[in-house]
Amino acid sequence: MPLSGKRAIVTGGSQGIGRVIAIQLAKQGAEVIVNCAHNPKNAQAVVDEIIQNGGKASVKICDISDESKVKQLFDSLKPLHILVNNARLDPYFRKPETSDGDWFSQVMDVNVKGAYLCSLAFFDQAKQLKLKDTRIVNIASVRSFTPAEMTMIAYNVSKLAMHGLTRAFAHNGASFGLTANTVCPGMVMTENLTRRLTLEQAKNEEAKIPLGRPATSEEIADAVLFVVKNGYVTGETININGGMYYGP
Ligand SMILES: NC(=O)c1ccc[n+]([C@@H]2O[C@H](COP(=O)([O-])OP(=O)(O)OC[C@H]3O[C@@H](n4cnc5c(N)ncnc54)[C@H](OP(=O)(O)O)[C@@H]3O)[C@@H](O)[C@H]2O)c1
Repeated sequence: MPLSGKRAIVTGGSQGIGRVIAIQLAKQGAEVIVNCAHNPKNAQAVVDEIIQNGGKASVKICDISDESKVKQLFDSLKPLHILVNNARLDPYFRKPETSDGDWFSQVMDVNVKGAYLCSLAFFDQAKQLKLKDTRIVNIASVRSFTPAEMTMIAYNVSKLAMHGLTRAFAHNGASFGLTANTVCPGMVMTENLTRRLTLEQAKNEEAKIPLGRPATSEEIADAVLFVVKNGYVTGETININGGMYYGP
């Protein structure tokens, strides 16, 4: 159990990719905090599944864009060893005619400011408690590198910003063993995508993937586990997208 004795938090861990990351971290022995903001029942279901399989987990409801709540959350969870910044605002796209500045700010508030606030609280705690070998994993997207459709500009920009967060925390945390990395998934048919895309839209998206199928959430969680377990990779990006884009 390579992660036994470690405590991890997965933001947006109540469904989709975050749910599977939480389950896989727990299987490796970590105690997992499953976070979300709006649907506590979903988070509780993930926690129940982890506990039924012999793992340790609990739910923490917190809107990660709320600075004082994030501070309270991290203060209540000392010590934390692993942070996975996975939450994103849903819905994640909007028609161009409704994509005003307010929409852009809402997306940035959750996807970027939320990840920043969690990373900062995590960083400060690791430094203050003199924790060794701590990990930040930022879940970005293949869309952080590809040109955005008009409906997705705010989302793509928010995911590009994750790389800046990764580099900053990798740089500033290196002296005390904190690593930060980005995992960039391609298409994953999570319950959210299944709900939002028509069958035809999903087929069109799949047709763009050289390997011919979407990723599974387990394949994304594998990449997360790799950078969590390997303490010498930092400031890196793992592209896991079926060959959709050959990143730098
Ligand atoms: N699915 C894909 O094809 C794909 C591709 C590339 C990248 N990604 C990235 O992978 C990650 C997971 O994707 P997904 O499809 O699994 O996402 P999802 O199904 O939309 O789940 C989003 C999660 O974030 C939580 N959340 C939303 N607002 C929040 C807030 N203010 N504070 C805390 N939690 C909040 C949601 O729970 P509540 O609503 O209950 O708060 C939910 O648990 C995202 O970062 C996404 O951008 C996904």
